Parts: sequence; structure tokens; C-alpha cells
Amino acid sequence: MESSITGRAGSSGAPHPSHPEVLFSVTGRGAVVTGAASGLGFAIARVLARNGARVVLVDAVADTLDRAVADLAAEGCVVRAALADVRDPAAMDAVMAEAAAWGSGLDIVFANAGISSGLGHRFGVGALAEIDQERWNGVIDVNLTGLMNTVRAAARHMNEGDGRIVVTSSVAGLAPDPLVGYAYSSSKAAVTLFAQNAAAELASRGINVNVIAPGSFLTAIGAKNPGNTGMIEALTAATATKRIADPAEIEGLALLLASPAARHITGSVFVIDGGVLVTRN
Ligand SMILES: NC(=O)c1ccc[n+]([C@@H]2O[C@H](COP(=O)([O-])OP(=O)(O)OC[C@H]3O[C@@H](n4cnc5c(N)ncnc54)[C@H](O)[C@@H]3O)[C@@H](O)[C@H]2O)c1
Repeated sequence: MESSITGRAGSSGAPHPSHPEVLFSVTGRGAVVTGAASGLGFAIARVLARNGARVVLVDAVADTLDRAVADLAAEGCVVRAALADVRDPAAMDAVMAEAAAWGSGLDIVFANAGISSGLGHRFGVGALAEIDQERWNGVIDVNLTGLMNTVRAAARHMNEGDGRIVVTSSVAGLAPDPLVGYAYSSSKAAVTLFAQNAAAELASRGINVNVIAPGSFLTAIGAKNPGNTGMIEALTAATATKRIADPAEIEGLALLLASPAARHITGSVFVIDGGVLVTRN
């Protein structure tokens, strides 16, 4: 007997509910992405915008933000820029209020902005004794408090019923990591639990909260770390695949978590690391 694959259309002529156009659709949804001028945030904003979402790109650096928004607008994407620092609660509240007032409101928020705390203890400069108080506080302010400001403001202004919040943690927040700094891994461990608590609280309002835990992607995050020599080689060696990912490789997971396909997914952590965790010992 021959098997057959049903086509794109269901009996009404509309795309079938199992078709990717429906299952992973973000068309017409309102989204905010923080840290969207560069790296993973830009890739996340891009995949949402290219798939028909209205996207507010939030970043604290004006020139890269303007360039990112101009690039997407030139493709015909529906995008806006919001110059804001995630450390500023009032600014984040204003960003979310404005996004909620645009079109049919705010449905999807990626709390993604984050900074490095430098090299880990394997490199000596990252040893416990070398932790700089000011840098520690700076990393916690952006990666943890800034993320809290983002999620709190999002929850205040989002549409209920089918909302999506996704926070960017790291594999460095899931297991000890000698390559990245103490403040970074501590902040990333904290955001995972923060997001899971929010998932439990917001479920009754129909807002799902999930966590992406990336391994190594080639972005600007470590570019300013002094004494960076050997870092890329060490990060590459730490993967099972022996390569560092391109930011575009986050797009599929980001779209999945923003989409109807993730309706029953909340409080979960999605590792995307080329096998760092499975090979670490
Ligand atoms: N690249 C990786 O390998 C990797 C791995 C694990 C997790 N992450 C996480 O992914 C997220 C994105 O990092 P990336 O690698 O794309 O870095 P990136 O430096 O390329 O991009 C981060 C963006 O966030 C913005 N930003 C920083 N502080 C901000 C603030 N206070 N307010 C608003 N915007 C701010 C920056 O201006 C920048 O545009 C971060 O949370 C990072 O910790 C990255």
C-alpha cells in the first residue's frame, strides 16, 4: 500500500494546523528583544521580524542599535529601536509600555542583554583572589538585575493568554565552568531559577517563561576582555563538535519558543551548546 503525505492545505484550503507555517507562526505578534543590536539578540530579533512579528530592538548602544534596525527595515521587516539600559527599571517599563501600545500589543519578550565578567579561573586572571568588586557588581547589575527589570516590566504590560518570555542564561550557569568568570556564571545560574519561578507565577495568566542556555557563539561579548588570548581555542576545545557556533544558529530555537509550538512548554531550560555539557568532566 502506498503511503501519502498530505499537502500544505487542510480541507478548508487554509494551511494545515501541523504545517510549519502555522505551528511556528509569529506573524502579527508583538515582540521585544533586549541586547538586540549585536550577536544572539540581533539573530533573535531577525528571525522574529523575518517571520512577520513587529519587533522592538532594545539596546544601550545607539550606533549599533540604529544599524541593526536599519538593516532589518531595509529587508521590509516591521521593526523599531528603543535605546534603553536594562539596568534602568523606569526605562524598561517605558519600553514595554510603548511596545504594548504598538499594534495589537506585546506577546513575546526575549530578556537577552548580558555582559561578560572576563576570563575564568583557568586563566589565572579569573581566580577567586582576583575578583574585582566593581566588575562583579556591574555584571550582576546587567545580567541579573537588568534581566529582572526586563521580565518584571514585560509581565506588567504583556497580553495575557498566549505570551512568551524567554531569558538568555548560559551553560556556564548550569555547571561549573573554569573558562568564564565567577560573576558571569553566578548571574547565569541565578537567572535560570528566576525564570522558573516566573514560569510558575505567570502560568495562570497564560504567559510561558523559558530559558535558553547557549554554549559558545561567536559574538562581541568577549571582545573587550583583556588577556583574551587562547579563549577561543579553549572554548572550541570544550565543545563536542569542536566548533563555535554562528549567532544565526540560535534562530530555530528562538522561533520555536516564541511560537504556538511552545504552548505547553514553560519553566524549561534549552541547552544549545554543541555538546559542551555532555563532554565536560
Ligand atoms: N556568545 C556566547 O557564546 C554566549 C554564550 C552563553 C550566553 N550568552 C548570552 O547571550 C546574551 C547575548 O550575548 P552576545 O554573545 O550576543 O553578546 P554581544 O555583546 O554580541 O551582544 C550583547 C548586546 O547586549 C547589549 N547590552 C549590554 N549591556 C546592556 C544593557 N545594560 N542594557 C541594554 N543592552 C545591553 C550590548 O550593547 C550588545 O549589543 C548574553 O546574555 C550572554 O550572556 C552568550
